[in-house]
Formats: sequence, C-alpha cells, structure tokens
Amino acid sequence: MQTETKIDCRYDDGEAIARQILAQQSDNAARAETLPAEAYNSDAFFRIEAQKVLREDWLFVGHVAQLPNENDYFTLDVIGEPLLVVRNAQGIRVMSNVCLHRWVPIASGSGNSRVFVCPFHNWSYNTEGKLTGAPSMQQAEGFDRHDCQLPQIRHEIVAGMIFITFSATLAPLSDRLGPLVPVLEKYHLADLHCAFTLDYDCPFNWKMAVETFIECYHHAGVHRTTLEDSFPGRLTWIGEDTPGWTVCHQPLRKNGDISEIMTAGLEPFGGLEGDDLRRSDLLLLYPTCLMSLNPDRVTINVILPVSKSMSVWHRVVLVSKPAAARSDFADTVERMRAGVMTIVAEDLEINAEQQRGSRSQLARPGRLSHLETSVWHLANYLKRKLTA
Ligand code: FES
Ligand SMILES: [Fe+2]
Repeated sequence: MQTETKIDCRYDDGEAIARQILAQQSDNAARAETLPAEAYNSDAFFRIEAQKVLREDWLFVGHVAQLPNENDYFTLDVIGEPLLVVRNAQGIRVMSNVCLHRWVPIASGSGNSRVFVCPFHNWSYNTEGKLTGAPSMQQAEGFDRHDCQLPQIRHEIVAGMIFITFSATLAPLSDRLGPLVPVLEKYHLADLHCAFTLDYDCPFNWKMAVETFIECYHHAGVHRTTLEDSFPGRLTWIGEDTPGWTVCHQPLRKNGDISEIMTAGLEPFGGLEGDDLRRSDLLLLYPTCLMSLNPDRVTINVILPVSKSMSVWHRVVLVSKPAAARSDFADTVERMRAGVMTIVAEDLEINAEQQRGSRSQLARPGRLSHLETSVWHLANYLKRKLTA
C-alpha cells in the first residue's frame, strides 16, 4: 500500500531550524531578514518553541474587566492546557480546568458560578479549585476529597492584565514591564470596561499572526481600501528593541480628522493630549500579547498557538466606564465589532496565503523593510529564548 507523504517544509528537524535562526544576524536592522520558512511549518520546531519559548514566558490570558463580579469566570486553552480563570472573594485565581478524576474540563465558555460540576461523573469544585463533592467514592481506599485541589497556575496582574506562566523560576513580569506601566496608565488600563470579546481560528502559525499585527507595511496592500487612507503604512515607525516588548507607532495621516481615529459614540480617555490623540500604538509584549492603544479604546489580543499551522485569536476590547454607561452603547459595540471584523477578514485571508506560500520548497528568508523592524525584533527575542 502506498502512503501519501505530505511535505510541509524542506526539513522537519527542530534543532537544525533553531541553529539556522541563531545564525541569523541580530546586530543591524538594515540587514534584517525573515526567519526561515521552515520555522512556520515544522512540527519539531513547534515543539521546541512550545517548551523553550511559550511555556517559559509570561502569557496574557485576559483582563480583570472580563471578571467584574465575584464568581465570574472564563476558560481558555493555552498551549494545550485547559485553564479556568475565576474571581472569588480573595481575588483572581488561575487554575487547571481539567477534572482530577478522568480529565474532562470542568467548565467551558464564561459565566458566573460558585461551583463547577464536571459533566462526566459530577465531581464538583469551588472557586479555589478544591474538590467539594465526589459521589460514590466511599469505597475508594485512601481517597480523601479534602486532599484534592486543581493545580494552581502562577499568575501576575499588571495594569489589569492577567498573565500566567508555567515556569516556577521565571523572573516576575512586573520587573520587565515596569517602564511600560506609565504608558498603560495614560489609558487607565486597570480601570476599563470590557465592551466585547472575540475568538476566531487562524489557519496559520502563531508568529505570522504576531508579525502581521506589529507592522503596518502591509496597509498599502492588504488594507488599501480600509486602513491605508487614514493610517498610511509609510508614516509608521518602530520603537527600540527592548527585552520585553516592541512597538509600532501608527499616526493618523497628516491633516486627518480626529474622527478617523475615533469610534463614533466613544470619547477620548481623560488626560490624553497632543499626539496621543492622533495616533494608535501597536505593542507586542513577547511572546503572544498584542495591544492596540487608541485614544478611545484599548484592544488586547492573545494568540494561542495550537499547532505549527493553527492558532486561535482571542481579542478583548476595552473602553472607559463612562462610555459604557451611555444609553447608545449597544449600538457603539455593534459598530466596533463590524469594524474589527472587516480588518480581521483582510488579515486572515493574507496570512492563510502566507502560510500556503511558506510551505514551498523554494521559500527562503526574505529581506525586511525598515517599516518591519518589529518583525526582526521578534526574531531577536526568539533567539534569546532559544539560547536561555
Ligand atoms: S472526569 Fe470529572 S467527574 Fe469523572
Ligand atoms: Fe493587518
């Protein structure tokens, strides 16, 4: 019998791909090139990234505004780990969402609950993850439900943003993000209202999603009838290469009206002035947290890598509390959602095409524009993690 071999890249040798990345230069932005195409198509390299990069760094999972009330919760899968994020009287907890009995996730979606009952055999847990009920287990020798608690996940909250890590030894995130906090405070980040969340599948490697978000070079191509007029890619510039993040500054076109950067129905955040009212900053907090800081709204996204060519995009859109209290807020949300979906559709289509092209046996690293220096910054971050 003949078996069909599907070739996704020239070689599926994770260590060789890592060596190839480490051999690329990281000194001179003017000589920057992309990662090898194999880094987006190799199962073996994806496993290395999962262990050395993703599991060994701080990953954004959500914002406290998604859990305004006691017993509010949401769930998400992070690199194959089902997680439960819940607010109880003590604060925010992040824990494994996997039943201690036979591993079914105990909660799904989001909501408000004091108790989580596993749908398989009805074991129940409280908001601390303690097992509070385990029917018909009296004859299980040595079993005491009081000894049982869902594994707790290390987390940190910075400016209302909840980050987790699977590492016990990683340095605190607040050390790394400290210099950024005053910028985030200008947008009142810890005190915003969650307007809506959005999840969608991305049929491409997580780095393609991240890289596309942090450069506006593609506006003239992909978004030429949507973003390019108001936010011409050629006017954008990239900040310094820092250990924790990179930023793409995206100004409104010269003589553009402020209404082009605002969502109708929203007001600018109090205290913003000057250029802050005429630009939208795109931030990547390594490795997977993408933020857009606008005068009237903040979007925080997490790219959840599923496999070498599949990711999930989780988007949280935040506005000021006074804006959310307006009587026409539901209409504003619908307008925002429609606007987001138009841009998302354009990016999804091009990134799926990029993934298809990157499987070519003829694909080699391509040179980068100065408008894409942030893409090179991500490559430099990857190198640091691969050698840590
Ligand atoms: S798997 Fe959860 S109760 Fe059995
Ligand atoms: Fe885009």
